Amino acid sequence: MSKTYRIAPSILSADFARLGEEVRNVVAAGADWIHFDVMDNHYVPNLTFGPMVCQALKPHAKTPEGKAVPIDVHLMVQPVDALAAAFADAGADLISFHPDASGHVHRSVQAIKSKGCQAGLVFNPAQPLDVLDWVIEDIDLILIMSVNPGFGGQSFIDSALRKVEAARQRITASGKDIRLEVDGGIKADNIRRVADAGADTFVAGSAIFGKPDYRAVIHAMRQALA
Ligand code: DX5
Ligand code: ZN
Repeated sequence: MSKTYRIAPSILSADFARLGEEVRNVVAAGADWIHFDVMDNHYVPNLTFGPMVCQALKPHAKTPEGKAVPIDVHLMVQPVDALAAAFADAGADLISFHPDASGHVHRSVQAIKSKGCQAGLVFNPAQPLDVLDWVIEDIDLILIMSVNPGFGGQSFIDSALRKVEAARQRITASGKDIRLEVDGGIKADNIRRVADAGADTFVAGSAIFGKPDYRAVIHAMRQALA
């Protein structure tokens, strides 16, 4: 059975002076999701954008034919719950958070799902997957960080491949249709290795934004996955 792969460009590396246009262009170039890196300068040493920017960009996350493209919000914030609810109200489709940033992981997952959004957990490079023992039945997405959160343009951390394999085994054992996404240092020349480890959704920021032809980069990634 051929797997459905998804490319999720991260607007962290987009031109912040033209975000609406950047979202339209990368969707027209074939992006499957828009990855929205939210940073609070507390959980990570950087500060990006909030729910109002999500709300402003939501109408631009559409294909030229008018089909909505999911907004995949990655919360690098602490605490989690209030901002997660605000992003749900601002049009997020998926909301993932770092379990070490929530005082009550199961409650945060429930809060996201009570707003009608899909819920995900994000695992930093040294973060074990153990919490999945108790919440895998409740989540829709597992996001494996292959860089330390906070900045785009970093190098891929190879140990993430072993964690992707372990996460894939847990998903298979759960029997649930859970997306397995990897975030950080993904390029056309390493995406195949990440897919072979078991990932099906790929965040890419600096590999896409800042390049002259978004379609060419996304096409090269899809070729590598074919
Ligand atoms: C880190 C961010 C980055 C970003 C992807 O907090 O989550 O991983 O989305 O950046 P690139 O693709 O440039 O590594
Ligand atoms: Zn991210």
